[in-house]
Amino acid sequence: MNTNDSVKEYYGKVLQSSGDLQTNACCTATDTPHHLKQLLANIHPEVAARYYGCGLVRPDLLLGMRVLDLGSGSGRDCYLLSQLVGEQGYVLGVDMTEEQLAVADRHLEWHRQKFGFAKSNVEFRKGYIEHLDQLGLEENSFDIIVSNCVINLSPDKEAVLREAYRLLKPGGELYFSDVYADRRVPAELVKDKVLYGECLSGALYWNDFLNLAKRAGFPDPRLVEDRPLAIENQQILVRIGHIAFFSATYRLFKLDGLESHCEDYGQAVVYRGGIAHAEHRFQLDKHHLLEKGRIFPVCGNSYRMLHESRFNPYFDFFGNTDTHYGIFEGCGSTLPFDKTVQQPASGGCC
Ligand SMILES: C[S@@+](CC[C@H](N)C(=O)[O-])C[C@H]1O[C@@H](n2cnc3c(N)ncnc32)[C@H](O)[C@@H]1O
Repeated sequence: MNTNDSVKEYYGKVLQSSGDLQTNACCTATDTPHHLKQLLANIHPEVAARYYGCGLVRPDLLLGMRVLDLGSGSGRDCYLLSQLVGEQGYVLGVDMTEEQLAVADRHLEWHRQKFGFAKSNVEFRKGYIEHLDQLGLEENSFDIIVSNCVINLSPDKEAVLREAYRLLKPGGELYFSDVYADRRVPAELVKDKVLYGECLSGALYWNDFLNLAKRAGFPDPRLVEDRPLAIENQQILVRIGHIAFFSATYRLFKLDGLESHCEDYGQAVVYRGGIAHAEHRFQLDKHHLLEKGRIFPVCGNSYRMLHESRFNPYFDFFGNTDTHYGIFEGCGSTLPFDKTVQQPASGGCC
């Protein structure tokens, strides 16, 4: 049985709901903002029960956007995003497991009525995320690609990132949550079907992920948030030894010519406000929390991520790249995640 077939079996047959998971790797511990809780309450219980995500894949400014969800499962994130992109937007979910797709499809009409849309803005397609080229999707056609706890399961992660780059519009972004390890996972653990299915042993060592992303066309991946996974299952703990696992959300902008490091050109931005639910401060990533009205010095890449994307109308921009002042302070190369648990990440999914 190849990797994809054993993952299909795990998500199609072994697991019936998030309560069947043996660890909390596929579990979202992030504090969900109030307005999203309200939208999540509109999701059908069967779809919600088969949610196996590990983060909150909801970037700002989604109204009217075309979004692709890689490994959409039972469709929980697609139905959340459906409400956020609105009736003029579009959400496509791709998954390879028939049982998961059947749950997602079964409730299309239910959600259309619940959201009060004349026509559904969501579709689901069967496919492999490393072979998106087989789905006939147009190049440069999605504003945003999301994914939630899936890429670690793919046997060809570089192909997934390459395909995402091809399908994104320039200025678009891949915004996704996944599991990472603090070191390379030994081959014998990768062969373990339960550890792999639970989103642990397929996880990339974080620095291998960064290099893979760079090769796929995303030179400056931005970490948005992260948390260490608290693995309480003793049998699994014994098997994984000292490997530390993290759930992390990254955003990868498709911008031609981004530099591999944060270079300082003396540029700055000011957030003018106006982004829904980010009225007072806008978070570009973990290290860029931009308060409304405050001058914020940025590197050349951050400047471009705001200037050449859907965020442009909400910022004032200062400076150009005529003069280079060296490397931007804080452009690090050590473990990017916090090892301390911020909140009890107890077993069982939310
Ligand atoms: C951990 S679940 C996450 C599902 C969904 N994103 C969520 O948050 O509930 C992993 C999902 O990814 C799908 N998947 C895994 N590898 C895949 C691949 N190579 N191509 C397409 N789907 C895949 C599985 O079928 C499963 O539905």
